Amino acid sequence: MKIACIGAGYVGGPTMAMVALKCPDIEVVVVDINEERINAWNSDKLPIYEPGLFEVVKEARGRNLFFSTDTKKHIGEADIVFVSVNTPTKSTGIGAGKAADLTYWEGAARLIASVSTSSKIVVEKSTVPVKTAEAIGKVLQRNCATPGVEFEILSNPEFLAEGTAIEDLRHPDRVLIGGADTVSGRKAIETLASVYAHWIPRERILTANLWSAELAKLTANAFLAQRISSINAISALCEATGADVQQVAHAIGTDSRIGPKFLNASVGFGGSCFQKDILNLSYVCESVGLKEVAEYWYQVVSMNDYQKQRFVERIISAMFNTVSKKKIAIYGFAFKKDTGDTRETPAIDVCKGLIRDGAKCSIYDPEVTPEQIFRDLSAPKFEWDRPNYSRSASHMLENVQVAPDATAAAEGAHAICILTEWDAFKAYDYQALYDKMHKPAFIFDGRNILDHAKLRETGFIVYALGKPLDPFLQKNYS
Ligand code: NAD
Ligand code: UDX
Repeated sequence: MKIACIGAGYVGGPTMAMVALKCPDIEVVVVDINEERINAWNSDKLPIYEPGLFEVVKEARGRNLFFSTDTKKHIGEADIVFVSVNTPTKSTGIGAGKAADLTYWEGAARLIASVSTSSKIVVEKSTVPVKTAEAIGKVLQRNCATPGVEFEILSNPEFLAEGTAIEDLRHPDRVLIGGADTVSGRKAIETLASVYAHWIPRERILTANLWSAELAKLTANAFLAQRISSINAISALCEATGADVQQVAHAIGTDSRIGPKFLNASVGFGGSCFQKDILNLSYVCESVGLKEVAEYWYQVVSMNDYQKQRFVERIISAMFNTVSKKKIAIYGFAFKKDTGDTRETPAIDVCKGLIRDGAKCSIYDPEVTPEQIFRDLSAPKFEWDRPNYSRSASHMLENVQVAPDATAAAEGAHAICILTEWDAFKAYDYQALYDKMHKPAFIFDGRNILDHAKLRETGFIVYALGKPLDPFLQKNYS
């Protein structure tokens, strides 16, 4: 059996590496139009940072795992074609700022149709609006010139999270396969299930109809993000009342119906999926006339925007209502720890908010390149998920510096903001950092990862998200 995967990104690369590792009898080729990305996959410096990924790629690459730009050849030869291209939020036209832009998906479908001389199973790996399979089916059927070629479309959404992708792929909670309830549909589902069954127990391979599988992916992300927005909403109330959000989260999380995961209050959720997929879900609801349902889910995104804005306002008001010309050290730019990915990271909105008020941000992140930070801070909203957007002229950048390490970022700063929960940030010598900063020296912990009592003993004025306010800050807010 031969598998091709269109799209060598955060999902296509790691997912196919795991398939190849676990299925030595199957040839897996990941293709992409981005030559630089493919070259990186073929090198010792992979295009994405993901713990454990290199070991998996190294074992399978050259044996039964290949990365190529020869899209036509490998798609043409494949029995199963995964489509794992980006599905960004539309930035212009009808549905701008909400609907999924399926340009890349349709491009991939047209490509498959044009090169296919044998029947194929086409697998939706990308996250797509419900009913996409129907549209894609039409594109495939109407554009294939070879008589007798049939396409069976399956929905097989990916649930991996970045930073833990390898573990998630090795031991997924479940694999979901949606397909048509026809003889050929059921056969295709079984063919794909037999690939996963190389390493995943059968009871964890769930099957569903196409629309349920497509919708389950959007729903899973909406529920996960909703938990974060819910606890973040409570974090604001904690600050106003003297409650402690971590104690509240612990108390509710021990209720087995609620469960303890995904209850960490934060400066806001980021990542390429949550916001995009909720906007997409809301848009689908709107399109079928479910205005109230659309508004309900949209509120999860609004609350996330509020949390980022609230954090910025806390910083400014704590620092005597002005950050003008003050250096602020930003620790962490990635959207979460253990990834170099910055897509929709809350750090973008927080830095932009501070810079708009005149601050100078000195940013340090162990895995994000200066070029990426400059691109993110100059890119228009929703443009980041398109290939080839590049750093553009922006006055924002005049007030941005990327520091080589945490000490350089804190040197001469008035405040440190923790925006990503990197483990390394917990181990720093904060006394030494304090000594290099202007006084009063502030720490704004947007992830609640530091020892706040110890920092206060050192002399820092500490703002910890959702925690009782420092008396110094209470005075400033009144
Ligand atoms: P990505 O941007 O990292 O990768 C997509 C790749 O597709 C790019 O390298 C792009 O060059 C390539 N591509 C686009 N059109 C192409 C074409 N016609 N031919 C060949 N290559 C083409 O995106 P990603 O993060 O891997 O996400 C892919 C999909 O998976 C999205 O729909 C996303 O919502 C979904 N998803 C992502 C995650 C995640 O953690 N990143 C998790 C689950 C699902
Ligand atoms: C998410 C989903 O978890 C995954 O199943 C889906 O396939 C893709 O989208 P990802 O975005 O990679 O994965 O990371 P995730 O761990 O979900 O974190 C998303 C954001 O939420 C991050 O910014 C993270 O810091 C934040 N978060 C997460 C919180 O603020 N609090 C939490 O308790 C958990």
